[in-house]
Amino acid sequence: MTTMNPLTQDELKTLVGQAALQYVVPGEIVGVGTGSTVNKFIDALAGMKDQIKGAVSSSVASTERLKALGIAVFDANEVESLSVYIDGADEIDGRGHMVKGGGAALTREKIVAALAARFVCIADESKLVQALGQFPLPVEVIPMAANHIARRFAAMGGQASLRLKDGQPLVTDNGQHILDVKGLSITDPLAFESQINQWPGVVTVGVFAHQKATVCLLGTAQGVKTLDYSR
Ligand code: 5RP
Repeated sequence: MTTMNPLTQDELKTLVGQAALQYVVPGEIVGVGTGSTVNKFIDALAGMKDQIKGAVSSSVASTERLKALGIAVFDANEVESLSVYIDGADEIDGRGHMVKGGGAALTREKIVAALAARFVCIADESKLVQALGQFPLPVEVIPMAANHIARRFAAMGGQASLRLKDGQPLVTDNGQHILDVKGLSITDPLAFESQINQWPGVVTVGVFAHQKATVCLLGTAQGVKTLDYSR
């Protein structure tokens, strides 16, 4: 008797990256997110690069990968709207609300998502959660406000730490810093996102509830499942 090895997380990411091609509209510009799952999508997109006009990218890293594969990259200011934005997530709940920013690209991701009519989330099944908040919440902040914002999170039961890279504060593509906040209970993602975005010095909070997913292509042991959040 032969037993099948379960697909690895990397293989699940490849599956959903390829499945996302069905949402790319020929002749148009596609919004492209950031991360290891999106890298699989970018690699698959290279196979249809002659059928699209190009991409709007959410990070320097994705821009470099797109260009290396011969896909034209447009500035977000050059487009009025996009049909679709394709990106990963650190967590996604049963209503399409997400936590994002594990790759520090949350601000540009939210901007490109806001341009798009549909947000197609691509994720392996480990990202699907009952409620947001297990993954430390990324928040992009103006550096001089970091400690003040950390104290405000502490007052609501969170523990914020400055994200480091090579022992130094990580600097985002926008020249800012990232706080990762543990211990939060995000029961109302829409209200939470609105509330934190009001705090002085917060550039972007990594809850994507106002820009939630329209659909999620979820990589599972049984194949790609489509979760539709549009209704
Ligand atoms: C980057 C993001 C990514 O979408 C998120 O971190 C998921 O990444 P990966 O596909 O590598 O698991 O929000 O800022």
